[in-house]
Order: sequence, then C-alpha cells, then structure tokens
Amino acid sequence: MAEIVQKPIKITETILRDAHQSLIATRMPTELMLPIVDKMDKVGYHSVECWGGATFDASLRFLKEDPWDRLRKLKDGFKNTKLQMLLRGQNVLGYRHYADDVVAYFVQKSIANGIDIIRIFDCLNDLRNLKSSVDACNKEGGHAQIALSYTLGDAYTDEYWMDIAKRIEDMGAHSICIKDMAGLLVPYKADKLIRALKSATDLPIQLHTHYTSGVASMTYLKAVEAGVDVIDCAMSPFSMGTSQPATEVMVETFKGTPYDTGYDQNLLAEIADYFRPYREECLANGLLNPKVMGVNIKTLLYQVPGGMLSNMVSQLKEQNAEDKYEEVLKEIPRVRKDFGEPPLVTPSSQIVGTQAVMNVLMGEPYKMATGQTKDLLSGKYGATVKPFNPEVQKKVIGDAEVITCRPADLLPNELDKLESEMKEWKQQDEDVLSYALFPQVAIDFFKYRQAQQEKVDMTQADTKNAAYPV
Ligand code: CO
Repeated sequence: MAEIVQKPIKITETILRDAHQSLIATRMPTELMLPIVDKMDKVGYHSVECWGGATFDASLRFLKEDPWDRLRKLKDGFKNTKLQMLLRGQNVLGYRHYADDVVAYFVQKSIANGIDIIRIFDCLNDLRNLKSSVDACNKEGGHAQIALSYTLGDAYTDEYWMDIAKRIEDMGAHSICIKDMAGLLVPYKADKLIRALKSATDLPIQLHTHYTSGVASMTYLKAVEAGVDVIDCAMSPFSMGTSQPATEVMVETFKGTPYDTGYDQNLLAEIADYFRPYREECLANGLLNPKVMGVNIKTLLYQVPGGMLSNMVSQLKEQNAEDKYEEVLKEIPRVRKDFGEPPLVTPSSQIVGTQAVMNVLMGEPYKMATGQTKDLLSGKYGATVKPFNPEVQKKVIGDAEVITCRPADLLPNELDKLESEMKEWKQQDEDVLSYALFPQVAIDFFKYRQAQQEKVDMTQADTKNAAYPV
C-alpha cells in the first residue's frame, strides 16, 4: 500500500448546482447567485460547481433563463475560482445518446463560456461512453474529471474500482471522482475504497456524496484520513438531507489538523447569512420540503437513491397504487440484477425504477417493457458490468439485434441537421446546443426570449417618443 500523505483537504462548493438541484428541484435563479459570487470567490475553494446536471434543463424550462448566459455571468464574477460542471458523457445534459459532434461542440462551448473542470459520468460506468467528452475536454484545455457512479453489488469489488481507476488514468483524464449519488458509501467502506484507489492510481481522488442516509460527514472524515484529495460540500443553508455535508462543518472539523483547509469561517458565515433567508423563503413556499432534510434509512436498506424513491411514489400515485410501494421496492433489486447490475443514477435509475413499477402493476415481470428498457437490453446504453439475464432479454427484445460496440459509433453526426431545424431562432452559436438537448423546451424558450426582446424594443420606442413630445 502506498503511504498516505496528510495534506490540507480541498473543497468543491456545490450550493450553486447539486445542493439546490437536490433540495429545491434546481430552482435557484441566476439573480440570486450573482450578489454573493464576489464573497464566494474569496474563500479559496478548489472549485465551485455551478452548471450542468439538471440546471440546464431547469433554466430553460422553469426559470426562463438562458443557461449559457448564466454561465457567462458566473464566469465574470468568479475571477479566482475554478468553475465546475457535471456532464452525463454521451448523454451530454439530455436523456439520449448524442452523436460525437454534438458532444464535442457542447464541451467546446462550455469551456469557451467559462467552465474549467468538467466532471463526466456514465450511468453504466461504461468508459467508452466518456471517451469523446474526455478527448474534447483535453483538446480545449479543460480539466477532465471522470466520475464513477458508486454502487453496491457482487461485481463492485475493490478490484473492480482499482482496475477502472487505472483505465481512467490511461484515458487521459486529470482526476477521478467517486460519485455516491445515493449516500451508500458508509465510513469504513470509504476508508477501504479510497486506500484501494490511492494504491491503484496517482490521479487526484475526489469524493462526492449525499447526506440522504445520514452518514455523509463521517464518510468524509474517514475518506480524508485515507488520503482523499477533494470533498464536495454545500454551504449550511442548503446542506444535509438529500444535499451534501455543510462546508462550514467540514472546515471546522479539520481546523488545526494536517487537513486544515485554511478557509475563513467569518467569510463563510457571511455567505451562509446571505443564503439563509432564501432557504426560509423556499420552506415557506413549499419548494423546500422538510421531508428531504431528514435521514432516509430506506436508501441503505434498498440501495435506492432518494430521488428515485420520490419518482416511484409519484408514478404509483398516478396509478392509484400507492399500496404497492413495498412490493416495488423489492422488485427494484430484481430488475437491477436482470439488467446486469447497473448503478442507479440518471438515466439508469429511471429505467430500472419505471420497469419495476410496471412489473408490479402488470402482475407479471416484463409483460410490458418501456422503450428505454428495450434500448438498454439491446446494448444501446452501453455495456453493464455483468451480463443481462438472457431470458429477460429474450422476452423483452425477442430476436432484435444486440449492440456490443460503443453505442455512439452507430450515430452519424447530427449538428448540421440540428442547425437547419432551428436556424430561424438562432441568436448565438450556443442556441443549437440548447435545441439539441431539449428541442421543444428550447423552442418555447426562444419564443419567450423573442417576445421579451420585442417588449423591450417597444418600451424603448415609447421612451424615445417621450423624449420628443409632440
Ligand atoms: Co450529487
């Protein structure tokens, strides 16, 4: 085993992305972020995660904001701090596989508009699905971080994680993140995992977890002692629950030790003071449900991410079948096994969850299958760590062809086609990417944007007229 070096721990601040995505459905608007950027920029964070994930969709769909504009404004404010985003590899920020030209162009524009570090993951941990993003990021001079979706299961041994870490190093990534989206990584397992990874690779290791199951800050403590380089935390008003451990608490924990961050608690307190009234507002208007702030021990029992549980409940509610909750919970691990034991993270969590609901509601497994289930079992999402259950595969896709190559190898370039479909709306190069990811939502946004601009033009015309009274 390599010797563990004790050194100051670094923190990635998530309040501008994952924390509000996890607690308030990604609804934090840009105008709320900007006034505090100046102070946040003085903390000395390793990076601020502020873009990607669900923020892109939520900006266009719900906040009627241009996500690219948000990124540029944040870049203007953060003069000393690296900006970080989350990218779903070949899915970019959408829900299907995109051709390589779209992936490369998205990465290029993300970096051109201000992103420094791109955290890239794939729901199956199929590294082939990350290759175009990593290559594009390297080409643009960005920091490519590969995030491994952490999960439990027979296939996920220390050897599995060590082997994949080596392969990530060979791919030319700059760092590795263990992405524990469900809060499944318990403290002593974290110690073992981080030590194993450290012995397998020289790349910096970052740990990302959620407080869902109540163990997250203990997990960080053990991971830091085991030599992890960076941890993800959120400022206290949007920490804990389904979000990350609180930044201030972690900073205080390591104060006076070899792991001391050196961050100024008074400055952190001012930042927390800024966000606290917004937290109160979210509690008052129902955006922040106190339910997500508690400990959800079911995530440890069923190894299911919190977001997946709430999705499942709403699907069952729609069908007036809430009494089937426990049955579906038991069906999830079975479906997951049939599907080759994938991690449960977007979009595999939805695929497994929806199929489990369907199996229970139909009273017979795979009597009906979703389109996504069919795609998964045809190999269109990539390779799973274990083979699919051949009987289930046969029942769902019959004799249809199964793909074994990198799925995007079969996708012809699509940028030109996308450009021609949306050219009447184009006001900036990046618009084609918004359209590529969420075609209908983007068009609705472009229409809204145009209407707003016409309104402004009219007011300006009015003002002009007012200046020259008749
Ligand atoms: Co997360």
